[in-house]
Amino acid sequence: MAATVISYPGNERLARALADRLSLEVTLLETRHFPDDELYFRVEGDVKGKTVVVACTLDRPNEKIVGLQLLASLLRDLGAAKIMLVAPYLAYMRQDRAFHGGEGVSARYVARLLSAAFDGLATVDPHLHRIAALSDVYSIPTRLVHAAPAISDWIVRNVRSPLVIGPDGESAQWAEDIARRAACPAVVLEKERLGDRDVRVSLPNPDSLTGRTPVLVDDIISTARTMIAAIDHLRAMSAPTPICIGVHAIFAGDAYELLRTGGPARIVTCNTIEHETNGIDVRPQIRDTVAGLI
Ligand code: R5P
Repeated sequence: MAATVISYPGNERLARALADRLSLEVTLLETRHFPDDELYFRVEGDVKGKTVVVACTLDRPNEKIVGLQLLASLLRDLGAAKIMLVAPYLAYMRQDRAFHGGEGVSARYVARLLSAAFDGLATVDPHLHRIAALSDVYSIPTRLVHAAPAISDWIVRNVRSPLVIGPDGESAQWAEDIARRAACPAVVLEKERLGDRDVRVSLPNPDSLTGRTPVLVDDIISTARTMIAAIDHLRAMSAPTPICIGVHAIFAGDAYELLRTGGPARIVTCNTIEHETNGIDVRPQIRDTVAGLI
C-alpha cells in the first residue's frame, strides 16, 4: 500500500528523516490558528487509499492532542487507508494510577483518545511503570524503540570508566541494561519526591563511585529536579562531576538553565524532543520501527 509522511507543525526534521529512510514522499500540511486560537488544517496532497504516517512528538501535549484528533479525522475524511502516529515522546504516561482519592489515570484516558484516532503508534521509551505495557492501555498496535543501545554506545565512545547511575528504583532495570551494554557497573539512587519540584535522593553504596565517572541516566528530564538533587548529592560526597543523560528533553520552564547552573560536566539527550542538548540520535531506530509498522 502506498504511504506518505505528514509533519505535525514543529516535527519537520523528524518527518523528513522518516520519509528519506523509508523512501516516502512528504505530504504538506497547511496549519494556522484562527484569531480565537482554534486550529485550521488543510492537507496539500492526495492521501486517498494511502497509509499516512503522522510525525508528532508529544511534549507540550495539550494543543497537540486536540490537533491530532482534528488531523486524523480530516485524513479519514480524505480517504486515508491507515493513519499511524510516530510520537517519539509519549505524553501523560506519568499519571499512570490514581495516586490520591479523586484523581484519574490520565495515561489511560489519553491512550483512549489516541487509539480512537490512529491505527498504530510508534514511540521511544514510554514511561512504563505501574502500566506494564502500552497494550494495557492502547487498543491499537504499538511499537517501542529503546534508547538504551544508543545511550550505551554514546557512553562507550565518550566516557572513561563510567558508573551508570539511575535516579530511582523505577529506573533500575533500564540503568542496568545500559550499563550491561556499556560493560560498566550501575547503581540506583534512593529517591523521594515530596512535590513537583522537591526531590531528595541518596546513594546507598558510596564505594561504587571510586575511580569512576558518574553518568546519571533518566528517561525524562522535566523540572530537572531529579538530576539536580542527584548532582548535589554526588557533590556532597566529593564525587567527580557527573554527566547527565536524558532520553526525553522536556525541560519545563527554567529547568534547563537550572540544570546547567547545577554544574554537571555535560548534559546530553536523545533527539525524541528537539533541544540543543540532543547528542544521541535515535531516529535510525525509529525509522526501522516505523518500517515494521507500515
Ligand atoms: C520518574 O519516574 C522519571 O523517571 C523521572 O525521574 C522524572 O520524570 C524526572 O522528573 P523531573 O525532571 O521533574 O525531576
